[in-house]
Amino acid sequence: MEAIRVDGCLLEPTEEVPEPPSGDQINFAKIPLCIFATCAGFDRMTELATPKSRAFSLSAAEYRSICDRVYALAGIKLGDQKQDLVYSRLSKRLRTLGLENFGPYLNLLDSPEGQGEVEFMLNALTTNLTSFFREVHHFDHMKSTALKECLNDKNSDRSLRIWSSACSTGEEPYSIAMTLLESGLDPRRVDARILATDINTDVLEQASYGQYSQAILSKCPPNYRSYFQMAPDGSGEAKAAVKSLLRFKQLNLLGSWPMKRKFDIIFCRNVLIYFDNETKARLVDRFVDALKPRGWLYLGHSESASGVHPALEPSGRTVYRKIS
Ligand SMILES: C[S@@+](CC[C@H](N)C(=O)[O-])C[C@H]1O[C@@H](n2cnc3c(N)ncnc32)[C@H](O)[C@@H]1O
Repeated sequence: MEAIRVDGCLLEPTEEVPEPPSGDQINFAKIPLCIFATCAGFDRMTELATPKSRAFSLSAAEYRSICDRVYALAGIKLGDQKQDLVYSRLSKRLRTLGLENFGPYLNLLDSPEGQGEVEFMLNALTTNLTSFFREVHHFDHMKSTALKECLNDKNSDRSLRIWSSACSTGEEPYSIAMTLLESGLDPRRVDARILATDINTDVLEQASYGQYSQAILSKCPPNYRSYFQMAPDGSGEAKAAVKSLLRFKQLNLLGSWPMKRKFDIIFCRNVLIYFDNETKARLVDRFVDALKPRGWLYLGHSESASGVHPALEPSGRTVYRKIS
């Protein structure tokens, strides 16, 4: 199994899992956790504080209160198994703020002066696993099908709108941008824009820099490295031609979507898994509405749903097309 960069996230065997390399089904539930964590490039044991070593107390009621807030704000369902992770991530914050316990932290979240803290809490508790050309079949599909049609459509308004709706640290939208350029996009002829959004302001800031370490860039196929200004240490920064296609904005998928124009292509990958069925269904409805007729929706590998929406038809592995 390939090592995967994990941005301080806890991979739960039942949640987001590395996609099988060739579509084979791997039962991650059967992999012992320590092996799983190591395979994922993440030493889970270092992040989790055992109850014995805890400096702060986190009662069941306090934990429930944090889960309820995260659910209400972002739609993310944190199960009981996330308690150690939540403790570990937020206890760092308690120390920084000089708070004695989680009780005062919850009071802070409720207070007018604690509104900025809500953003910090969400930034700390989202899972941001991503990589360049993750689920490469989506990029192959986009190049051979969606972009071929969009870029060759003589009747189109010569504009192309793409939305990467949970873009994390940017590897997904930069991969989309490079695929566009690789497909022969001439920005002087086609007004192409990729909107990249996420709820987490920290990852968005990182994404906007377009700077990636050697380890992260190793996920980028060699023929795409020329889109980066490479440094001697193997790190790189996306070139202006790539950056100019991208706009980064904070957007909570549960909130309002202020975009006026509809999209040719929407990527919503590996985020629906954190939501309950009702929220997922509501979001798919909204994505359908945000797509142009015959637009494409790309979902994550564990988010495929047969009969995902009556207005969508399957167009490839976890790719759907708006019927009209
Ligand atoms: C696992 S990453 C997926 C990144 C990328 N789409 C991919 O597949 O590689 C999930 C992202 O969803 C974001 N997210 C979680 N809840 C969200 C919400 N309610 N609105 C917008 N983004 C959200 C997280 O901040 C995180 O960056």
